Amino acid sequence: MTTPETGILPQHLLGIEGLTRDQISLFLDHAERYASFGARDAAFGRPLDGRTVINLFFENSTRTRTSFELAAKRLGADVINMEVGASSISKGETLIDTAVTLNAMHPEALVIRHADSGAVALLAQKVNCAVVNAGDGAHEHPTQALLDALTIRLRKGRLEGLTVAICGDVAHSRVARSNIHLLTTMGATVRAVGPRSLVPSGVRAMGAEIFHDMREGLRDVDIVMMLRVQTERMQGNFFPSAREYFRFFGLDREKLALARPDALIMHPGPMNRGVEIDSDVADDFERSVIRMQVEMGVAVRMAVLELLSNRTGREVVK
Ligand code: CP
Repeated sequence: MTTPETGILPQHLLGIEGLTRDQISLFLDHAERYASFGARDAAFGRPLDGRTVINLFFENSTRTRTSFELAAKRLGADVINMEVGASSISKGETLIDTAVTLNAMHPEALVIRHADSGAVALLAQKVNCAVVNAGDGAHEHPTQALLDALTIRLRKGRLEGLTVAICGDVAHSRVARSNIHLLTTMGATVRAVGPRSLVPSGVRAMGAEIFHDMREGLRDVDIVMMLRVQTERMQGNFFPSAREYFRFFGLDREKLALARPDALIMHPGPMNRGVEIDSDVADDFERSVIRMQVEMGVAVRMAVLELLSNRTGREVVK
């Protein structure tokens, strides 16, 4: 049974690509209600009481894994954090057999992060619980884009009509891809800013404008979203040195001055300070909303877990 509200949602959250404005707004509106509650607010209720959420992370994480765990617990669910290194995967059990085995224990949701693009979608075909993509390779990180959008919406009051510069290592970034899909769907203008080696021309087809001169790319934008340089996904040299990268593409006070005076600074974390962002601007608590992004991560993941679970018959919080 689904409520009319959740009936518009897919069974799984595998990406932002393909979601409609209404679907994105439903996640954001629901998350905004959670964001307005205190961390121990009784108004949460326990809509996932007696249900189980399993976190299955094949890549390291601080923010995403912790916030999914907190989110599920605040909703009353039991949470299992699978230790992949201590699981039967180390004995040669396949990814699919692992997911099918966990599904047989009837969790409400599997939250999966994997280094390979498409791995989470593949597993979603093999299970009947909800699957949430917590980041798959360079493909998508949908809950990151939702928490970024919620942060922007709360600070700016809207998404439509804003200009957002997504800067740096776009090529290896699932965060960039999910954000481009979300922001363009919601009526924002997106600029992809970075060196030629790190901004694939394909992002133009996704609706982003491309800038290889950061000073041009930042001019008059409302939001400066910096990306982590993902050296772990790079084979070969994509730029001469970290020092050179910072000089041309690192966000510092001088480059930030080209954006609108009230432009917000964002970063999904973890940050490489002194490479893509200077501490001076990262820690400017008037302009930087990096900590707020983390806080909104819990609210967004509560909304996602509840709305996807709700498709199998629970009341939504009012
Ligand atoms: N932004 C993000 O996904 O961070 P973690 O890798 O720490 O989860």
